[in-house]
Amino acid sequence: MKVKIVDLSLRDAHQSLMATRLRLRDIVPILETFDQSGIYCFEVWGGATFDSCIRYLNENPWERLREIRKRLKNSLISMLLRGQNLVGYRHYPDDVVEKFVKKTAEYGMDVFRIFDALNDVRNLVTSIKTAKKCDAHVQGTICYTISPVHTIERYVEIANELAVLEVDSICIKDMAGLLSPKMAYTLVRELKKEVGLPIDVHSHYTSGMASMSLLKAVEAGAKMIDTVISPLSLGTSHPPTETMVYALEELGYKTGVKLDVLLEVREYFMKVREKYQGYIDWRSTIPDTNVLVYQIPGGMFSNLIAQLKEYNALDKLQDVLKEVPRVREDLGYVPLVTPTSQIVGVQAVLNVITGERYKVVTKETRDLVKGMYGRTPAPIREEIRKKILGDEKPIDCRPADLLEPEFEKRRQELIERGFENPSDEDVLIYALFPQVGLKFLKGETKEEPMPIFGKVEGKFEVEVDGEKVVVDVKPL
Ligand code: CO
Repeated sequence: MKVKIVDLSLRDAHQSLMATRLRLRDIVPILETFDQSGIYCFEVWGGATFDSCIRYLNENPWERLREIRKRLKNSLISMLLRGQNLVGYRHYPDDVVEKFVKKTAEYGMDVFRIFDALNDVRNLVTSIKTAKKCDAHVQGTICYTISPVHTIERYVEIANELAVLEVDSICIKDMAGLLSPKMAYTLVRELKKEVGLPIDVHSHYTSGMASMSLLKAVEAGAKMIDTVISPLSLGTSHPPTETMVYALEELGYKTGVKLDVLLEVREYFMKVREKYQGYIDWRSTIPDTNVLVYQIPGGMFSNLIAQLKEYNALDKLQDVLKEVPRVREDLGYVPLVTPTSQIVGVQAVLNVITGERYKVVTKETRDLVKGMYGRTPAPIREEIRKKILGDEKPIDCRPADLLEPEFEKRRQELIERGFENPSDEDVLIYALFPQVGLKFLKGETKEEPMPIFGKVEGKFEVEVDGEKVVVDVKPL
């Protein structure tokens, strides 16, 4: 039996472990070797990479995609697309979604993995239909989480809704490492039986279960599994590609992956890991069993710590960890994935810091309660809705139905700002991230300096792009 390996080293791995900061120049040298390894598909783009490129790295995300595509000739490449949110954090109107997906397909994207944080399939329709029209492989995605309303029956229902949209495969996306081996087996078996599409399983290592879960998923008939090269594996990232390949081959599955080639790739990424060590919090590299209780994905965990540090309230971490599941229940058991993970996280911090629940609410919390992100898996708790919205009525249509077309307007704005004949790529950068994107397009973005790892403390002068920058190194 064949099992296809989807390698996430170039997107999810560095998003999970090093704040999405892997530079293109540290990716390029290994691509041609990586391409010889027999990996079925590489996830290389999307998620937070687009944002990170223009915000922190001073890299053009389109250029990045072009350079990667050019060098991966034998393998498929894929991206993670947040449905109507694309690679941003809000709903974009349909014309922007269509333009973005078409442009990405033109750059040679083979596989679009498309998800919605709320599993509201209405938010996936435009991007799925557009990607299908471009003849791409569309992977309809189910965000896996645990709650009283997230039953096997519900997941089968969602998968069937995706099947109606003619997706080519189904991805079970376990952002927080909550998918247990038993559940992986049962869920894959039921989806296979009830829906019949090929299944890909994506499970973060956060709780330490992912390798076991992937193996059980394969036993139940999963056709694809998501892994990463060993130096970027484990912790909040994913099971190691080499280890999974070895175990599966020994059990009689055929992956087509050449372990000797991966050894070379591994050597390369050992150096990358060392170089990026300053971005990696050691806490995100070991199994976090809190996640089994609090259901908090790794990225969210580090965000919570960062926010509490800002308020100088790191001692409140335990209170916040207890508040997160309560907020989540209030807000209709939203899965903790971008952007709802941020909404729940920030709100939980505010609830704890202010000492009164929902005394201060963010605009995002309010929008979620109002239905602006889509339908929550369960209804919002009534008293919370009243406290936040008062007499205002929530919406019940697809949120993007309320949005006017934007693409041409954004193009005009760029022209008014002195950009002559801006390309579609530039308009998309600006349409998706008006402030950060504009700064980038004006050439005012500076690549952030690499953080320095170790117990050093104080101000250091480093060179970035030929310019001297002073970095303030704090003890870890
Ligand atoms: Co992931």
